[in-house]
Amino acid sequence: MKKLLSMLLILVMVVGIFAGCQNSSDEGGSKSSSSVEIGIVLPTKEEPRWVQDETRFKDALKDSDHNVEILFSQGDSAREKQNVETLIAKGIKVLIITPHDGAAAAAAVEAAKEEGITVISYDRLVTNTDAVDYYVTFNSVSVGAAQGQYLVDNAEGTGNKLYLYAGAATDNNAFLFFEGAWNVLQPKIADGTFEVQNSSKAVEYMNKATLSREEMGEIIEQITTDWKPEVAKSKAESHITAAPPAGNTFVLAPNDGTARSIFDQFAKEEGLTIFITGQDAEMPSIQYVIDGKQSMTVLKDVRDLVKGAIGAAVDTLEGKAVETNGSYNNGSVDVKAKDIQVITVTQDNVKNTIIESGYYDAKEFTGLE
Ligand code: BGC
Repeated sequence: MKKLLSMLLILVMVVGIFAGCQNSSDEGGSKSSSSVEIGIVLPTKEEPRWVQDETRFKDALKDSDHNVEILFSQGDSAREKQNVETLIAKGIKVLIITPHDGAAAAAAVEAAKEEGITVISYDRLVTNTDAVDYYVTFNSVSVGAAQGQYLVDNAEGTGNKLYLYAGAATDNNAFLFFEGAWNVLQPKIADGTFEVQNSSKAVEYMNKATLSREEMGEIIEQITTDWKPEVAKSKAESHITAAPPAGNTFVLAPNDGTARSIFDQFAKEEGLTIFITGQDAEMPSIQYVIDGKQSMTVLKDVRDLVKGAIGAAVDTLEGKAVETNGSYNNGSVDVKAKDIQVITVTQDNVKNTIIESGYYDAKEFTGLE
């Protein structure tokens, strides 16, 4: 009896150890063979945007024959490097990576490249290295342009107060978004339609149609949210105190997480009509758009991005050429890119662009007519 009990105990322990191994990561499409072919590294689970990418990858890979594993770096470049090393050890042939910090990720992708792994930058570009084979991305300049255009289309007369916010300076996209927005906003700042309230550098450069990377960097440094809603909140609080908004108030918010947080601060002020941008079509922001709080978001259909990335990975595994339609300089080389278009979402077209397109289910929201 004693012997039987101890054998049972050992069995329970062995099963436990195996279950532990299984749970250590998110399997995208767990297939029969044990080695992983495609490794995916995403930046953080803290933002709905990247959790959605994981879900869409899993949906797209349900019926795939390829073994895929998805790991999250939780906003930490050291953990990101570790994730890449883990995947290299598992034998991946293709790495799909969204860097937390574009420049810091260079060492991780170089380690993959040394093992003959094909590296695909996903949504954010890994910078200052020649170890990136492809870049699958939304057209980020057009995201910024859509945000700027929304503000311009809603401004009348002159002297409209404009508050600018940007993403993290460690993310190349923050520059592309800002560039796109600046292209559209700058002529309207120069002609007095808008008056920038919260960036002395943007005021200094208001007559420059094209900014150098350094000049953009100087503005972004003043208005960065670091992609963190709490940073956006405290910056908005101090900007509201330093330069109080009045009447029609225009806010360039770089993405949905920061937009909701900035909106909530401005909404505390009396008598404002707030025009505020965003991007990502995160569910809570779609609700804000329906409720007339956030004015617009930019739908970056993650299903298309996932399809583009998996397509590039599978073509690589099958020895086929990867189709590209553009290129982006990453500070070291021109990286061949698959560039995907975006859609502006407002209260007027939210039903059509978000619900009828099948992006989200109507039951996720209230107040949809
Ligand atoms: C992505 C955005 C996202 C932001 C913050 C950017 O690189 O393109 O979709 O909102 O990072 O995570």
